Parts: sequence; C-alpha cells; structure tokens
Amino acid sequence: MAEVTVLHYPEVRAGNWVLMSGAARRAGVRLVTWEPHLLQVTCTDSGMSASYPGHPTAPAILLHRTVSRFEGIVAPAVQLWESAGSVVLNDISAAYAARDKLLTSMALSRAGVPIVATVAFFEPDKELLISTAGDHDVIVKPAHGVRGEGIRTFRSPAESVDRFHELPAAIQDVRTDSREHFLGQALVMGGGRDLRAYVVGRVCVALMERIAAPGEFRANLSLGATASPLGLGHAAAAVAVDAVQACGLDYAGVDLIEDESGIIRVLEIDAWAGFAGITEATGVDVAGAILRLALARRDEAGAG
Ligand SMILES: Nc1ncnc2c1ncn2[C@@H]1O[C@H](COP(=O)(O)OP(=O)(O)OP(=O)(O)O)[C@@H](O)[C@H]1O
Ligand SMILES: [Mg+2]
Repeated sequence: MAEVTVLHYPEVRAGNWVLMSGAARRAGVRLVTWEPHLLQVTCTDSGMSASYPGHPTAPAILLHRTVSRFEGIVAPAVQLWESAGSVVLNDISAAYAARDKLLTSMALSRAGVPIVATVAFFEPDKELLISTAGDHDVIVKPAHGVRGEGIRTFRSPAESVDRFHELPAAIQDVRTDSREHFLGQALVMGGGRDLRAYVVGRVCVALMERIAAPGEFRANLSLGATASPLGLGHAAAAVAVDAVQACGLDYAGVDLIEDESGIIRVLEIDAWAGFAGITEATGVDVAGAILRLALARRDEAGAG
C-alpha cells in the first residue's frame, strides 16, 4: 500500500482533511500525519539531515499544508528530504514565496500572466497609486493576508493615504519587529465577484464563480460568498494553469478576476488553498486529483 506523509494539522480547516482521507481510502493509499512543530534538522561536520520523532528516514511521498507559520524548520527539512529522494509535491520555497502577494505578482508579471496593476509599499504614495491604479476606488491589502482579513477599500488613492493607519496590519509587529508590506490596486468592477480555480499538475480541475455577500466586496467563501460552478472551457482555466506554472508549483488554488475589458487577471495563488468549498460547489474530487499526481510523480521518479 502506497504511503503518503502529510505535514499538517488535521484539525485546521478539517473539511479538507476529511476529503483527503476519503480520496486516500478510494485510492488505497495510507496517509500519515506529521505535525510541523515537531520537525528536527541536524547539522554536523559529517552532514545534515531532517527527521520527525521516531522516523529517522525520509518520507517516500510528502505533501504539506497548514505550515505557513513554520517556515524556519519546514523549508530546510523539506529541502533535505527532497535531496534525499523524497517525492515532494509543491516546491517548499515556491509555496512560501506564493504566500507573499508581491512575490506572486512579480513571478506572474515576469511570465506574462495578466495581473491587476499593483503598487507595493510599507507606506502608500498617492501619486504612484493614482498613476498605477487610477484616481478612483482602490483596495489595499496586506501582502500575507488570508481569507480577506485586513483588506480595506477606499474611494480614492488620496483617501487611502489619509486613512492608511486604520489598517490593522499597518501597525509594526512588535513580536517579530518586522513590518508587513501592502499592495494597492484598483478595485476591479467595484469588487464583490471573483473566480476561484484549482489547478493540479498542468490541468485546471475545477473552476467556480464567487459572489460576495450583500454589502461585502470580498468574495471569500469564509466571508459568506456564494459559489457557482463554471465550465473548464472558461478562459480563466488556462490563465490559472499558466499562473501556477509561473510560480513553480504543482498544485494550487488561484483567485482571478475579470476586468472591465473582459481580461481575466490573477489576484493571488495559494499552494495551501483549501478545496472543500470548490469540491462542494463543483463536485470535483480535487483531493483525489492531488493524490493521483503524487503517485504519478512517485512512479516517474521510480522509473527515472
Ligand atoms: N483588485 C481587486 N479588485 C476587486 N476585488 C478584489 C481585488 N483584490 C481582491 N478583491 C476581492 O477581495 C477578495 C480577497 O482578496 P485576496 O484574495 O487578494 O485576499 P486574501 O485575504 O488572500 O484571500 P484568501 O487568501 O482567503 O483567498 C478576493 O477574493 C476578491 O473578491
Ligand atoms: Mg483570495
């Protein structure tokens, strides 16, 4: 029986784990949970290695999710396992880079994948925001935000500068002494609607439209948005596949938005995006697709 090790906390957004466990049962795969805070990395004159208590050897196949706060040990450990022959889905550095919306915008811009024109800053500059986003409604979001938290809209770049200090993350993080950076963009089509795609390998396996709750501009399901499935022939599917590839990932959730001229633009990419919502909305077994990709990669590696 194939064994897949998953670096995560099953109770975090547990709906995804329920789906993954079901897909594993159907595929005859044994899933093993490793908790990120227990990882160890050893460095001696005779070499380096990563381990998990009671498991000195590298996992055969490794998936990772819910590890965003554990980069310090998770990233080097996964790299060491990968160089020791583990089949890892989603390069760990690419996954952490995708958490930062500025790095994602740069990777997409480099690859020519359409994005919403963006200014990134610690403190907003009115003129630059006007020349980049236009002198009308703008949205300001923390680079590492999730689930729409800490995002604000303003009626103009001038207002965003005057009221920037109201943004929760605008305050210096005394614990880590690091400043969060922000992205400023035009509020496309007044907000309230976007598209979420799930890409596995080079295929968009599921696509849905999200309509925000009344009075809300963020179309996150966690903020009460409603979802409806879209056909995979939709133009957003191909853009999503290009976007995931441009970020060096094997699978990911992609947020996209259609602008006034009908161009599909990428908002963000998340290597740890949940799939419970899109599975419910589209009926697509995203978890099964991820497991099949993992087994195919193992077979390729075995054949190599
Ligand atoms: N430039 C924009 N124009 C219009 N709507 C936007 C824009 N940027 C974001 N939104 C809306 O706000 C929502 C949240 O934004 P975004 O996805 O960038 O942040 P997030 O906090 O990372 O969300 P999550 O990680 O949960 O997907 C989007 O799903 C979209 O509905
Ligand atoms: Mg999003």
